[in-house]
Amino acid sequence: MPESKKVFIKTFGCAQNVADSEKIRAFYRQSEFTEVDGWKKADLVVINSCIVRESAENRVYGLINEIRKARKAKKIIVTGCLAGLNKNKKIKGVDEIWPIDNFDLKIEPIRDEEKAALISISSGCNNFCSYCIVPYARGREKSKSFEEIIKEIDEAIKNGFKEVVLIGQNVNSYGKDKNSSFSKLLEEVAKKPLEKISFVSSNPWDFSDELIETIAKYPNIDRLVHLPLQSGDDEILKKMNRKYTAKEYLELVKKIKTKVKEVRFSTDIIVGFPGEDEKAFQKTVELCKKVGFEIAYLNKYSPRKGTVAARLYKDEIPQAEKKRRWKVLDDLVNQK
Ligand code: 5AD
Ligand code: SF4
Repeated sequence: MPESKKVFIKTFGCAQNVADSEKIRAFYRQSEFTEVDGWKKADLVVINSCIVRESAENRVYGLINEIRKARKAKKIIVTGCLAGLNKNKKIKGVDEIWPIDNFDLKIEPIRDEEKAALISISSGCNNFCSYCIVPYARGREKSKSFEEIIKEIDEAIKNGFKEVVLIGQNVNSYGKDKNSSFSKLLEEVAKKPLEKISFVSSNPWDFSDELIETIAKYPNIDRLVHLPLQSGDDEILKKMNRKYTAKEYLELVKKIKTKVKEVRFSTDIIVGFPGEDEKAFQKTVELCKKVGFEIAYLNKYSPRKGTVAARLYKDEIPQAEKKRRWKVLDDLVNQK
């Protein structure tokens, strides 16, 4: 028998990429590749890339350079967000650009059995937060069909999974293009024999009363709700093109807390967005105190070429100051 070819799949970034890689893995296994655990042993390296911040993008180029420097004849395929952004272009050192997502790969994923099953329900984003490259890399929002999602979940349950995570850039706007809604989908999923259903990420402006009712009604829906805040200052929120004020965010949190007694919150925050002075930063600190987040994923602002923020605003906050603000919030929320 001829020796099978060896593939190494490297995944950077968010749950969306992890879920896509689980399908990429299945695709290569089907094509009689053997998976190896490092690029040095591989004939083919598939890099599932993230470009949300410059540091993430640099890690992708770093890996490509490292492989190319070794001068071994290897094929490199780049997929994920960098591929989405470079659809018809070339990337130095890369043989093939493969702009796929979870929707295109109609294959049963090889899931990590130690973790919850990741179920991609939508892809892309229509929000255009001014700092974010995702809508350019992943395109406009598309929702997977209700039937397809339920089928994937039934498969996961059959395979022994007791926990699922519904994923998408903006899960709670699911179904707007399909005359359906996220709360309807969530309710159907919650009726399944599952112990925990989580979902990431939802945006404050799409968090309907109906969705809150659904969470309250089904105890198997995760009580840790991820609700990206980004900033607690109204001026900054406006410049970020986030569609709420700090007060509206807090009111939403209070409403959810009233209806879902045991709820806890996690969040995403960007520090050092252009124009964020000490006063504005303190508003974020205050809001964090009021909400009492369990976890905050903290990001230092990184201008992304092609976004509105990169075009309109100078990245003026020094790196050291971004670091300081990052640490203030980390100490407040994550190290308590
Ligand atoms: N700079 C810093 N953080 C960013 N995020 C998205 N774009 C940027 C950027 N240009 C963060 C946001 C988002 C998370 C996935 O990444 O906080 O919620
Ligand atoms: Fe980016 Fe905003 Fe869409 Fe999230 S909601 S992916 S931050 S544009």
